Amino acid sequence: MHDIIDQLEKKRAAARLGGGQRRIDSQHAKGKLTARERIELLLDEGTFEEWDMFVEHRCSEFGMDGKTIPGDGVVTGYGMINGRLVFVFSQDFTVFGGALSEAHAEKICKIMDQAMKVGAPVIGLNDSGGARIQEGVASLGGYAEVFQRNVMASGVVPQISLIMGPCAGGAVYSPAMTDFIFMVKDSSYMFVTGPDVVKTVTHEEVTAEELGGALTHTTKSGVADLAFDNDVEAILMLRRFFNYIPLNNRERAPVRPSGDPAERIDASLDTLVPENPNKPYDMKELITKVVDDREFFEIQPDNAKNIVVGFGRMNGEAVGIVANNPMVLAGCLDIKSSIKAARFVRFCDAFNIPVVTFVDVPGFMPGTSQEYGGIIKHGAKLLYAYAECTVPKITVITRKAYGGAYDVMSSKHLRGDVNFAWPNAEIAVMGAKGAVEIIFREDKADPAKLAAREAEYKQRFANPFVAGARGYIDDVIQPHETRKRICRSLAMLKDKKLENPWRKHGNIPL
Ligand code: COA
Repeated sequence: MHDIIDQLEKKRAAARLGGGQRRIDSQHAKGKLTARERIELLLDEGTFEEWDMFVEHRCSEFGMDGKTIPGDGVVTGYGMINGRLVFVFSQDFTVFGGALSEAHAEKICKIMDQAMKVGAPVIGLNDSGGARIQEGVASLGGYAEVFQRNVMASGVVPQISLIMGPCAGGAVYSPAMTDFIFMVKDSSYMFVTGPDVVKTVTHEEVTAEELGGALTHTTKSGVADLAFDNDVEAILMLRRFFNYIPLNNRERAPVRPSGDPAERIDASLDTLVPENPNKPYDMKELITKVVDDREFFEIQPDNAKNIVVGFGRMNGEAVGIVANNPMVLAGCLDIKSSIKAARFVRFCDAFNIPVVTFVDVPGFMPGTSQEYGGIIKHGAKLLYAYAECTVPKITVITRKAYGGAYDVMSSKHLRGDVNFAWPNAEIAVMGAKGAVEIIFREDKADPAKLAAREAEYKQRFANPFVAGARGYIDDVIQPHETRKRICRSLAMLKDKKLENPWRKHGNIPL
């Protein structure tokens, strides 16, 4: 018995040491934590239950015979974040560069399968040199097994990826299919092909950081949702983020009671929107003044800034917030902002999180680059997302709601539950100037006449009452009471039931 216990302890110690002290030191020297340190920081103290610590690869090719390290480069198991269950895998770069072998993939698949059975989120901490080169196709098969599970779990349990080192080639496609991707600045990168291949094929000279670093993916490509300064910050923010999401698609996000009164009035909102309709204002100020305790967890803050998305709480209940941002491109919808918001709305819908939408949108972005880029298809994504969404939907038009963009932004016609407008709202086909230039083209040479027509159009249409008269707006509310009215609406909608017709799946424009 003693022997076997000794053996167990030895194996555990070997697994804990991963690729050895030298490689652990090298990981630390790069400013990175080890796979186990990351898990320790992510989970509530003492809650981690590790699985498959003794799994080893079965490869004997290219010198791998006898070269085994228990755990095979990934630490897997489950634990708690703020008392809530989560499954986790953490790739260990000190063991064969965290490269994915068949056995390594099996470990990941095992916890994904279990997470699906019990209805708990999966968090992947990625730090890997990719497919285990010595294993060849067995390793590729392993990736595909993970991908298949990512797809099956999509919309069933939340999946979050934290990229904390290399993630290249086929490896990128597992995170790509998860709900959120967070990255660490300077020490992580994601690309389909690395700088050397890029140079050979396209003759572009680019560093790994420029090609696929955290800043690239959170500002240019939109692949990643947030970039953090280091491992510790990333993990601590992930723990905060976790509080906004439910464990699975049959549950609700946790409620966090707040001392912030649901009926709180904010008089400063009455002067937030400038008199001049062409002047911008800060939509994020509105958001922070409306949510509980001014806490807004923004997602993708540096990508497609013309739309703001993120999580907040209203009277303790987690909500997803979508808002046009008049400070950037006047809040127009374009390709990137449509994609960003559509995916966010679909996440909220899949996981029972009500959507609150603040609208100030002058329309879709004109131009050849948008049309050639397929704005028709991409704009349709947002329309589709709102239209299929069955969670409570509350909309507040704070100023402009023009044209097709009016329809798209969670309008009454797309089954908006409660649609409010502020008194200064302009709900029309387009701005008054553009409108009269088209319908009174014959008056083009007479600026005085045109100005009179414009004033008339403005007076007739640049207000919320035409829409109100048709019931497209449930009420015109004072800005200062926005929080109160949203909180009451959410309470009314608490037990909302709405189902879409049965189908295998819809065909969202891609
Ligand atoms: N398969 C097997 N072993 C791998 C590996 C892989 N895909 N990627 C890295 N390793 C091993 C290295 O051989 C090295 O082993 P050692 O410590 O015994 O010397 C260890 O992991 C660390 O790699 P190293 O190259 O020293 O680290 P680095 O920080 O300088 O570079 C990478 C990291 C990921 C850029 C580099 O290892 C790399 O290019 N790997 C191959 C990536 C790839 O093409 N993957 C397959 C396609 S998906």
